[in-house]
Amino acid sequence: MLTKEDNEILCRVGPGTMMGNLLRRYWTPALLSSEVPTPDSPPVRCRLLGEDLVAFRDTYGKVGLLDNYCPHRRVSLFFGRNEECGLRCVYHGWKFDVSGACVDMPSEPAESNFKDKVRITAYPTHEAGGVIWTYMGPEDKQPGFRNFFGDAFPESEWRATKIISVCNWMQGLEGNIDSSHIDYLHSGRPPGVEVKEAADQVWFDQPGYPPPGSRTPRSHSPTLEMEDTWYGFRYAGLRKTPNGYTNARVTDIILPFYTLVAPVYGPLGGDNFLVMVPIDDHSFWRLGFATTSTPVPEDPRLASLQAIIAQYGIKERNQWADNDYLIDRDAQKTSTYTGISGIAQQDLAVTESMGTIGDRTKEHLGTTDRAVIRMRQKLINAAKDLANGIEPADVDPSLPWDRIRSAERNLDEGEDWRMLGTEEDPLVRQLETDEVHG
Ligand code: FES
Ligand SMILES: [Fe+2]
Repeated sequence: MLTKEDNEILCRVGPGTMMGNLLRRYWTPALLSSEVPTPDSPPVRCRLLGEDLVAFRDTYGKVGLLDNYCPHRRVSLFFGRNEECGLRCVYHGWKFDVSGACVDMPSEPAESNFKDKVRITAYPTHEAGGVIWTYMGPEDKQPGFRNFFGDAFPESEWRATKIISVCNWMQGLEGNIDSSHIDYLHSGRPPGVEVKEAADQVWFDQPGYPPPGSRTPRSHSPTLEMEDTWYGFRYAGLRKTPNGYTNARVTDIILPFYTLVAPVYGPLGGDNFLVMVPIDDHSFWRLGFATTSTPVPEDPRLASLQAIIAQYGIKERNQWADNDYLIDRDAQKTSTYTGISGIAQQDLAVTESMGTIGDRTKEHLGTTDRAVIRMRQKLINAAKDLANGIEPADVDPSLPWDRIRSAERNLDEGEDWRMLGTEEDPLVRQLETDEVHG
């Protein structure tokens, strides 16, 4: 549990809040590149960390991210005309470029220099991974871009997907580092039918095999072990398998809100780089990345994964609190654990059901919540440090951000889970050789 004060520090992200200040020290994913697809395409609204912004791609392809409100009489620039390297307010024609300069003010006398004195808030942007990123902090603290994507795939192949969630971002983030819930919430079967499933799947149960995710037979009360790293921390959910091996599911946590969740196959999985981007205190985007050539093994059991990777853009939702996420009580009895269809939708149902800002003063945390506890402590400590003048150390772009990998497999005798997904992991070396040699 947390004190009320720490819960507030953790959740509030608006300008001037402690966590809001911390998040504004990092580059933040603002919108998908595909939302402003071509030069002079229509501007779009972008609410981020409690600020109302508008994004547009100018005539040269540069993306601007401006305050939504025109500095003249505060009309929304969403209605603006995107033309000739600037966004023009439709009320009186004032025009702003991507840097925030007012480049035309046709409503004032030609001899006036008023336009040179007016600026609109504009945040710098950077495109990577199919996303437009922005930096919303103090100019003199702006770090270089942490390149999570490396050069294994060209920028043109990266695609991002997002789905909205209507609760506080921390609830989403906590769900991503909560290994034990996958055996329940996401289980493809109700209790009691797993023996047959286990027999079907027993060929996966050998050391070194990277099994397809939570379908692997294993115990349902993982032991969590953790290790601090230069980018945050990583943890393993360790579970016994029917043949007596230890299955290790390793997740990396990169501050402030990035997770590399153990993928459904191999360390290079598709949708496993998951990011929880706060829109405001009461909603966030759940953002995933993949590439058009992400290798997916030819295996009918992975058909649903292939379908996920093929769906780029903003995912539509038809399962909400007010239709009970279309829960099917018969299915809950006979075929799935929740009766709610869709992995992401199962996550949305439980995290949104806590209320838009969950009351962490009333929780009862157990041993499988240790990663959640560590995540909260790290974020709260970093926010308090910043309030005391200590800047975050993990914004250095020269660190190997593209080398961080999660992993899942059964351990060999004497093998330490801490090696999995690192440069010492034979499977990583193998995959890198494949990447280099095609
Ligand atoms: S309100 Fe935008 S130009 Fe007047
Ligand atoms: Fe989940």
